[in-house]
Amino acid sequence: MITGRSLPHPIPYQGSKRALAHRILALFPKEKVRLFEPFAVSAAVSIAAVANGKAMSVVLNDANEPLMLLWKRIIEEPDRLLASYEKLWNAQMGDERKYYDYVRNKFNKTHNPDLLFYLLARCVKASVRYNANGEFNQSPDNRRKGAKPQTMAKHVYGASQLLNGITVIQCGDFRKAIADATPKNVIYMDPPYQGVCGRRDNRYFEGLLFKDFVTALEEMNRKRLSFIISYDGRTGEKSYGEMLPEHLHLTHIEVEAGVSSQATLLGRTAQTIESLYVSPALVKRILISNIERTQPAKQAQLSLF
Ligand SMILES: C[S@@+](CC[C@H](N)C(=O)[O-])C[C@H]1O[C@@H](n2cnc3c(N)ncnc32)[C@H](O)[C@@H]1O
Repeated sequence: MITGRSLPHPIPYQGSKRALAHRILALFPKEKVRLFEPFAVSAAVSIAAVANGKAMSVVLNDANEPLMLLWKRIIEEPDRLLASYEKLWNAQMGDERKYYDYVRNKFNKTHNPDLLFYLLARCVKASVRYNANGEFNQSPDNRRKGAKPQTMAKHVYGASQLLNGITVIQCGDFRKAIADATPKNVIYMDPPYQGVCGRRDNRYFEGLLFKDFVTALEEMNRKRLSFIISYDGRTGEKSYGEMLPEHLHLTHIEVEAGVSSQATLLGRTAQTIESLYVSPALVKRILISNIERTQPAKQAQLSLF
């Protein structure tokens, strides 16, 4: 299994699921699937799934349009993207802070994905943040200049080789992106978190109402779709957000996601526990795969990890 840092990661988003991807892939059925990742950002699960022979094709979607245009560039035009990254990266030298602000202003006027690529490489936690006017307002991480062009090239070519020719890129609401999904496919969803984004009002994600998300999950269950959701979690005793409601009949699994960097900064060592929820249709498929694998034994147990 190709895991963690061995996987290409052109968008170095700190909340990315790259480190956890092998635990998520353990929940896939044994046959190769078409994978939908409708809240993509760094597309970490899709990259891991293709690299490990778990997905034969991928649908990537996110509500963020420049981000999805950037994915198109990474996958279909890696040479051009890397040439413009190198130009921006070299031009910043000696006046990195001012240059970052200059690129950020220009991006907010043009929405050019190449500029977003530079900003993501340089900004705090490689995290996409917008203000109320829809402007990218994340600050630069002044300790870093962004990945060197040679390092970035490895990530971009690696992702392009895996995804080119088998990926559909979409931009918009997750419900539209998965409208064509069938029970044979797998959908991996990592919606914006309720708890950790610090909203006082827990009914909202960023742009997505909790109750609307639950309604969409009910519909997905009705269609017997196979889906996995990463959905909040806890660090030590502190948990974030609400649990998904019982009537959805999802199987809840907690996986250790390593030591929380936030807790370490505060002088504590606390394990971050991530919650995964698996749809009933997918649990059934994994059980069937397990029974086939353990033949001729009559009884099989669901062993997820
Ligand atoms: C927690 S991040 C996903 C992180 C990703 N799994 C990774 O490993 O990098 C959530 C993403 O959902 C997107 N988003 C928010 N509301 C959405 C919606 N209604 N439909 C599709 N995407 C949405 C945001 O733009 C954001 O990029």
